[in-house]
Amino acid sequence: MPKYVIKPNVYCISINDRTTDLFEGLWPVTEEGVSYNSYMIVDEKKVLIDLSKAFKGDEFFDAVEEIIPISELDYVIMNHLEPDHGGLVTTMRRINPNLTILCTDKAKEMLATFYNITDNVQAVSDGETLDLGTKTLQFFHAPFVHWPETMVTYDTADNILFACDAFGGYGAIRGAIFDDEIKEEEWEFYIRESLRYYVNIVAKFSGQVNKAIKKLVDAGLKIDVIAPSHGIIWRKNPGQIIELYQKWAGYMLGETEPGITVLYASMYGNTEAMMNAVVQGISEVGVPVEVFDVARINVSYILPALWSNKGIMIGAPTYEAGLFPLMVYVLDMAKRKRILNKKVARFGSKGWSGGAQKEVEELVERNRWELTDYFEFTGHATKEELTKGEEFGKKFAQLIKSS
Ligand code: FEO
Repeated sequence: MPKYVIKPNVYCISINDRTTDLFEGLWPVTEEGVSYNSYMIVDEKKVLIDLSKAFKGDEFFDAVEEIIPISELDYVIMNHLEPDHGGLVTTMRRINPNLTILCTDKAKEMLATFYNITDNVQAVSDGETLDLGTKTLQFFHAPFVHWPETMVTYDTADNILFACDAFGGYGAIRGAIFDDEIKEEEWEFYIRESLRYYVNIVAKFSGQVNKAIKKLVDAGLKIDVIAPSHGIIWRKNPGQIIELYQKWAGYMLGETEPGITVLYASMYGNTEAMMNAVVQGISEVGVPVEVFDVARINVSYILPALWSNKGIMIGAPTYEAGLFPLMVYVLDMAKRKRILNKKVARFGSKGWSGGAQKEVEELVERNRWELTDYFEFTGHATKEELTKGEEFGKKFAQLIKSS
């Protein structure tokens, strides 16, 4: 009997991955894990929506066969081709060469290049429907949520949105998969990991996320269940994750939280001592602050704070007449993820020559942020300079609070 039944004859196959260290080869999931969800609808026609990662083949195909023999599948709907979902398509085709793959026209092109599959692939247009017998599916193209070929699938009989990457999150499933079964103490984990996933994977395309949500709203869809390809299934309160996505997408436009992300790096503790003074000043104003040592904390965990908070305080020393290199990396990643509309201040030890400030100014301009203030000290900060640092933090926090 399949573990997760969403509605009669609609199943979720959720494969946990606690082996992959880096999602997309970039983002750490060693501690959190990740799930790959696919969905099966058994009607007169039998449909699988999305697949799983290649190395999970045995587990995945066993789970499919718990529901129906693979040879009975009529369709595989590929909402998205990225190999965390599409990795098993070649094997699936070998097992059942007769099934038809349904996807967008762009995905059809990409199936040839990513998986060398050209036969028995049918492109579906935006809004097209598929009659399964008693149920009908409808397809909505959702380009760049997450790749250009992405779409979502809607079950019109059960009001289920199979949303693929949209509304998903990191975090292996810890038994319960439905939102109404998640324990109170697990919510913080799932919401935090949904935001981290959003910022790491989808946020750059926030404009397209908003467009996709608007398209579904304009189509008048009644959504009772959101069934994403990663993480939990929202059947009690699907509006919660939609609202969160709208809020997170709005951060790109400057509708951010009134907090400050402090990024710091320190070779011998001089800049760290100043960071503590600056943070003291920020906290005195009562502005929320999140502190990250960029040399020790993976950028994956830093990006959600940068995305969400209005202010960025950069504390980094000069290194070989430039900015400390790992700070350069984090600021560059922020640009790549289109983290916009930020107010910035910077402090740091200038060693003996200085040079970091010039590079900060270049990077801040490149990121289209606003540098509001800075100050530097030589080598080890004096008591007076630490007091000045506290005032510096206070002033920046007041600016953030009032803007
Ligand atoms: Fe979960 Fe973009 O793949």
